[in-house]
Amino acid sequence: MEEHRPGVITPSAPAASCAGEKPVVLITGCSEGGIGHAMARAFAARDCQVVATSRSISSMSDLTNDPRFFLQELDVLSDGSVGRAVSNAIGRFGRIDVLVNNAGVQCIGPLAEMPLSAMQQTFATNVFGAMRMIQAVVPHMASRRKGKVANIGSVTVQAPGPWSGVYTATKASLHSLTDSLRLELKLLGIEVVNIVPGGIRSNIANSAIASYSRMPEWKLYKPYQAQIRARASMSQEMKATHTEEFAKEAVARILQRNPPAWFSYGRYSTVFSVLHHMPIFIKDFVLRKAMKL
Ligand SMILES: NC(=O)c1ccc[n+]([C@@H]2O[C@H](COP(=O)([O-])OP(=O)(O)OC[C@H]3O[C@@H](n4cnc5c(N)ncnc54)[C@H](OP(=O)(O)O)[C@@H]3O)[C@@H](O)[C@H]2O)c1
Repeated sequence: MEEHRPGVITPSAPAASCAGEKPVVLITGCSEGGIGHAMARAFAARDCQVVATSRSISSMSDLTNDPRFFLQELDVLSDGSVGRAVSNAIGRFGRIDVLVNNAGVQCIGPLAEMPLSAMQQTFATNVFGAMRMIQAVVPHMASRRKGKVANIGSVTVQAPGPWSGVYTATKASLHSLTDSLRLELKLLGIEVVNIVPGGIRSNIANSAIASYSRMPEWKLYKPYQAQIRARASMSQEMKATHTEEFAKEAVARILQRNPPAWFSYGRYSTVFSVLHHMPIFIKDFVLRKAMKL
């Protein structure tokens, strides 16, 4: 679903590429099997030069010998790692035209018993990681008065349910920051897009289950253990949209002249959009049914 939300000024800056120049796109979290990896391939298919980054180069090994990709290790939690990858990209290409803040982690568990350290880690990655990237890349874009930033949000923000409250709160923060950034960065000639996936095939359930296994045993919520654990894999169990299909659509919107402020696509994105406009008691009723509560 594509939407030009009321009150949002659609920027009219030129498209990312200069005539004859391939747009340089830096993406975080490009491990094989995920959305970032599929977007890296989709940007390359659209004749972009892609700086594909992830915490470990080995997770992108299939891109190694393809000259369309410049592989960099990048951990969004580390100033040093972000600084190195961004300066290597600028050193190699002289510019970054598009930044895609894709790296993200799930966090499953009941809010009343969730360790604060797990909450902090999720915010550190999904919110402050994206902001660290933006603060590293924007000065370069601003010096050319040109560039695009795409943040990967989530439809879950439109109807927050139980057991993934922390993850949803990080994405709600990111949506809000994206709205402010769109207005602030426009003054520097930079366009901002909120890419809002529905259920998309990826590794997110595997990493959610891995981090869930490190959670303490729930006390108050012991009777709900099965439902809580099931939430970790939910996005992958509901006929999730193919990663390549999502990536192709998202990349087309980011690259277009005057990109939309908000682009949502994928399994249940329309349902969440409708739920968003429902009265709270209807939203709660639907979510209780869906989550078997
Ligand atoms: N799949 C969905 O249904 C869905 C729906 C809504 C939103 N999203 C969002 O889409 C984005 C991509 O997720 P995905 O579904 O493709 O999941 P994924 O396959 O698990 O990919 C997440 C990526 O983020 C990376 N990452 C995690 N922590 C990082 C860090 N500190 N520094 C750098 N990279 C880090 C992961 O690296 P490692 O491989 O090293 O762990 C991985 O490459 C996320 O922001 C997610 O919240 C996904």
